Amino acid sequence: MTNRKFALLHHRITQWYAASARELPWRAPDASPWSILVSEFMLQQTPVVRVQPVWEQWMQRWPEAADLAAEPASEVVRAWGRLGYPRRALRLHATAQHIVELHGGQVPRTEKELLALPGVGTYTAAAVASFAFGIPATVVDTNIRRVHARLVKGCALPEPSYTAKEAALAERLMPAHPADPEELHPLANAWNISVMELGALICTARNPRCGDCPVQDLCAWVAAGRPAPHYVPKGQAWAGTDRQVRGSMMAVLRHTPGPVGRTALVGGIDLLRPLSDMQLELGSETGSEAHEAWVVLYALAADAEQRERCLAGLIGDGLARETTAGVGLPA
Ligand code: ADE
Repeated sequence: MTNRKFALLHHRITQWYAASARELPWRAPDASPWSILVSEFMLQQTPVVRVQPVWEQWMQRWPEAADLAAEPASEVVRAWGRLGYPRRALRLHATAQHIVELHGGQVPRTEKELLALPGVGTYTAAAVASFAFGIPATVVDTNIRRVHARLVKGCALPEPSYTAKEAALAERLMPAHPADPEELHPLANAWNISVMELGALICTARNPRCGDCPVQDLCAWVAAGRPAPHYVPKGQAWAGTDRQVRGSMMAVLRHTPGPVGRTALVGGIDLLRPLSDMQLELGSETGSEAHEAWVVLYALAADAEQRERCLAGLIGDGLARETTAGVGLPA
């Protein structure tokens, strides 16, 4: 690809972003580094529409890292709610404590320091460096990988797992880095967020809207006649999986103030008995969130072996804790 073509891509995609991007609160000019870091943890595996309301409540309640660090883990897991993959909540909590203890409560700026935080991998470190501090790190997420694969390689999808070649391509596509890696570079950061947004809104995995794309005429995939993917992407199974059972157990624990009986969670559930009978022993009122959570868990009808395995997994991950009083959220 020629330098002229690179320059055209940079110009058109960043202009498109300026005109068409979503206004999201963590992209506001006055969003704090901490609020941006929180958003990136939440967005790692959860879509924007589900993240936004939880992020808003979260930032009201815990505006600074120190506010979150001072909370017990149980509150953090409760507030994480239904975002999924709740180990992220524990890691965000640990990251807040690390920031308080080692960085005086301020999010560190460099990718190296960011990478040392619990739950921060290559993507999140680059995203925070770029979006919170304007440092021209190369940001690569699944949306960006797909845009690169189509635009440059002419493939419908990137390889199933991230390759060194892709990383090199992402580096090559960045608008020139300044000599000093800490020097700010607005075009590099605009490029990161613009390509990400193009992947989220136009160059989507299914049904891409090529007619609305600012670089359709420069796209190798369009030029090749939009060939089909060279492999069948693995869908994320949900129904019947351990993730689903674990999620339902976590919902019960989140909505119950104290510990719940182990047998109610993993055994002793007789699906033929009316739920109203069991209500007394479960101690939850009909219509309450706790009751709804029990109903959902029972309706899965997971066998005892799966439920035992899931509970053991939650305890092993530190998301649940068993005491003589029963099973509850971590202290
Ligand atoms: N804006 C900044 N980071 C983002 C992300 N990970 N997903 C969606 N929008 C974002």
